[in-house]
Amino acid sequence: MKVVHTIAALRSLLDPIKLAQQKIALVPTMGALHKGHVSLIEAAQQHAEIVVCSIFVNPTQFTDPKDLEKYPRPLEHDIEMLRASGCDIVFMPAVKEMYPREESWHIDLGAAEFLLEGEFRKGHYQGVTQIVKKLFDAVEPDVALFGQKDFQQVLMIRNMVSYFNIPVQIISCPIIREEDGLAMSSRNIHLTMKDRENALVLNQALIYVKDHFASQGVDTLLGHAKLMIEETPGVTLDYFTIANGETLLPETDQKKSNVIALVAAKVGQTRLIDNMILS
Ligand code: PAJ
Repeated sequence: MKVVHTIAALRSLLDPIKLAQQKIALVPTMGALHKGHVSLIEAAQQHAEIVVCSIFVNPTQFTDPKDLEKYPRPLEHDIEMLRASGCDIVFMPAVKEMYPREESWHIDLGAAEFLLEGEFRKGHYQGVTQIVKKLFDAVEPDVALFGQKDFQQVLMIRNMVSYFNIPVQIISCPIIREEDGLAMSSRNIHLTMKDRENALVLNQALIYVKDHFASQGVDTLLGHAKLMIEETPGVTLDYFTIANGETLLPETDQKKSNVIALVAAKVGQTRLIDNMILS
């Protein structure tokens, strides 16, 4: 496994691979890797001969400077995990490498940009798509893999790819969970033992909605799920919605396909998100 820090070094590794017409997969991450990230690396190996993983804590997607500052950066542990998972190239640029100058550009991501996470984290998806575009330009991957855990993020990246007409296949991979159901996240290490227990209600509320989706109306389901969460000590609900998976607008027609339940809540000091596909 090769570790490179500059776009020039990355290109000189990738050029012969492209000349040999081998397929390249990209898995963008911000590090603090867990089994969710590893599942993306493993899936990437099914789609391409060469797997590139980027580790870059992207400052432009953080709306809270404290969140950026306290974002975990266990680099040696990450490199070991990537080595064990069969990753071929790790790209770990410095901030100046990705943002050599002040930039203000805007991508039209459609109305869904401003809903859910976009409402709570203003400008977040401009930052996400900005860095993913730069990574796509640096790597020129045939395929790029993202987790369904960040459902809205995948949607925004698909919109960005269509906006720029980028020749890359976007693959969304299933959410990897702890044994008790908590969705794996780099932020889970900030949870106290009590928070960790309380956080389970997010997955439990999603399961409730999925299990009763065929037999109860949307209003009843939402009422029950929200109550479950709001009654849990230390948990503050940002949103719980049953939405159309394309527009992210509330869905009331339970016969439609592509319906998804999405939740975000603060558990103690840590903001968590989760989701579940209902149809
Ligand atoms: P990060 O939070 O590090 O996540 C990297 C990738 O891992 C994302 O595609 C995310 O959806 C996926 N992932 C996280 N937890 C997962 C889980 N439990 N199961 C499956 N996949 C999971 O998302 C980002 O970084 C950044 O926004 C990025 C796309 C790298 C742009 O900076």
